[in-house]
Amino acid sequence: MNILGFESSCDETGVALVSTEQGLLAHALHSQIAMHREYGGVVPELASRDHIRRVLPLTRQVLASCQMQLDQVDAIAYTAGPGLAGALLVGASVAQSIAWSLKKPTIAIHHLEGHLLSPLLAEPRPEFPFVALLVSGGHTQLMRVDGVGQYELLGETLDDAAGEAFDKSAKLMGLGYPGGPALSRLAEQGDATVYELPRPMLHSKDLDFSFSGLKTAVLTRLRKLEAQEGGVTQQQRADLAAGTEAAIVDVLAAKAIKALKQTGLKRLVVAGGVGANRHLRGYLQKAVARLKGEVFFPPLEFCTDNGAMIAFAAAMRVKHGLARLDDSQHGFAIRP
Ligand code: KG4
Ligand code: ZN
Repeated sequence: MNILGFESSCDETGVALVSTEQGLLAHALHSQIAMHREYGGVVPELASRDHIRRVLPLTRQVLASCQMQLDQVDAIAYTAGPGLAGALLVGASVAQSIAWSLKKPTIAIHHLEGHLLSPLLAEPRPEFPFVALLVSGGHTQLMRVDGVGQYELLGETLDDAAGEAFDKSAKLMGLGYPGGPALSRLAEQGDATVYELPRPMLHSKDLDFSFSGLKTAVLTRLRKLEAQEGGVTQQQRADLAAGTEAAIVDVLAAKAIKALKQTGLKRLVVAGGVGANRHLRGYLQKAVARLKGEVFFPPLEFCTDNGAMIAFAAAMRVKHGLARLDDSQHGFAIRP
């Protein structure tokens, strides 16, 4: 069965074709980062309009790259949420329209389920069960994953997401958008021990996170440095970036390790854009090895938003009998 999938929840238009038997056949992505950069963040209206412009050319590209016609598609998957309303509507409308015209069913996918299952798109694939650390611009969650559709929320952020903490701190430091990679690059030249920054909830017994206090601490520290004669030096900015990155990574890693210990599981999967952070990767690799466990990072292209994870999550749902295709109402959403 061939499933065409659409992702359009934020600033990436992703389209992919996944076969329930053969796995990922093709995928294509357009990132809007360059377009939003001059505004310092995602502008929802511009995002929606750009999804409209990109989605059909990307669909043609995906079909052409595996020499397929639209009528060889058996079901259409799309990100139903969470995300920007207008942006989501584009993917949903295109998916529903194609499904209607082909008289094929649609499968609505939760964006975070896409991220959760994305590590299974590449080798080495983690086996179930595993703990997933989901760290993106909008979410920070620890989940226990026992199988497809079997997810237990272990902890989550009480305020800002980890990616948001990176992005907001980077913005305060005058770095570009998206801030995470920019802050991380600057941090490479800095010394994380120069400025002591808070590690909110590091020692709390639960598996929750809080990052909004860190942003305030970065702001306070910056103000002090700006007030000094000559303003902030490049080295001070790099030291502050390194301190910020270390504070975020310390908390994420400590809670992920705590989740492994609490659940008794040995496999940790890291998904979402912040999973691209080199410092986080290095830290977790060492910490999980000490527990004699394994840590899995999806390839970068599947870490950030993409269509492959949506089509793949739909294929997994179909394979596990969680998408009711047999009684399909042609063109109507089949809710998981
Ligand atoms: O998963 P994603 O592409 O989109 C959302 O669903 O939010 O994640 C984007 C987030 C942004 O906050 C970005 O700054 C962060 O991931 N990010 C990073 C790095 N690469 C992307 N944060 C820290 N270090 C990185 N190397
Ligand atoms: Zn995402």
